[in-house]
Amino acid sequence: MTPSSTKIRKAVPGDIEAIVQITKDNEHYWSQEVDGAEALARIISREDNIILVAEDDDNDGEITGFLIGTWDGARAIIHKLSVSPTIHREGTGRMLVAAGIEEFKKKGAPTVGVSAADGTRDDEKNDSTGFWKKVGFESIPARLMINFTIWGDDDEDHGQMKDENAEEGDI
Ligand SMILES: CC(C)(COP(=O)(O)OP(=O)(O)OC[C@H]1O[C@@H](n2cnc3c(N)ncnc32)[C@H](O)[C@@H]1OP(=O)(O)O)[C@@H](O)C(=O)NCCC(=O)NCCS
Repeated sequence: MTPSSTKIRKAVPGDIEAIVQITKDNEHYWSQEVDGAEALARIISREDNIILVAEDDDNDGEITGFLIGTWDGARAIIHKLSVSPTIHREGTGRMLVAAGIEEFKKKGAPTVGVSAADGTRDDEKNDSTGFWKKVGFESIPARLMINFTIWGDDDEDHGQMKDENAEEGDI
């Protein structure tokens, strides 16, 4: 299924508030450093990143989903994909991934990977593996690890799930 009133376009700074809100609505707002407005502004400003939004023309151009990825000159990785929870399973995620792959192809990427911060929680609704398989991705033996201490602090809240009502600036 493809939502006929939805179009995919590159994100602009004016989309940031909606992107943050969708992240929170999906309970995927981990921290201000990676999910907050300033981080998104930096992502939008860098040429090798891809940040796309889905816009619903039937609803005054409401932003209904987004995709974030990056190209390092050899590998293309989608880091984040999120669709408003009220319209899951209506085809928006598939549209965003197809458009993201097209953008990466234009940059010369031979493959596109996905590193998704899901599948580690017990609840089924947060496991998007089935979605990624449907849109052409396959699992490979890989390890995703992270060093939370590169800033030299020992803030134990890094990487912890944020309350969905958390405000910008809360850690
Ligand atoms: C994962 C997500 C982006 C999918 O977006 P969506 O718009 O609901 O997906 P689509 O409607 O385009 O689905 C495409 C296909 O995948 C299937 N699908 C969607 N979510 C699925 C899931 N969680 N498990 C299995 N299959 C799924 C759909 O049924 C559809 O199948 P079909 O083509 O046979 O009809 C969305 O559920 C979401 O935002 N989840 C929360 C954030 C998240 O987990 N993001 C991924 C990690 S970064």
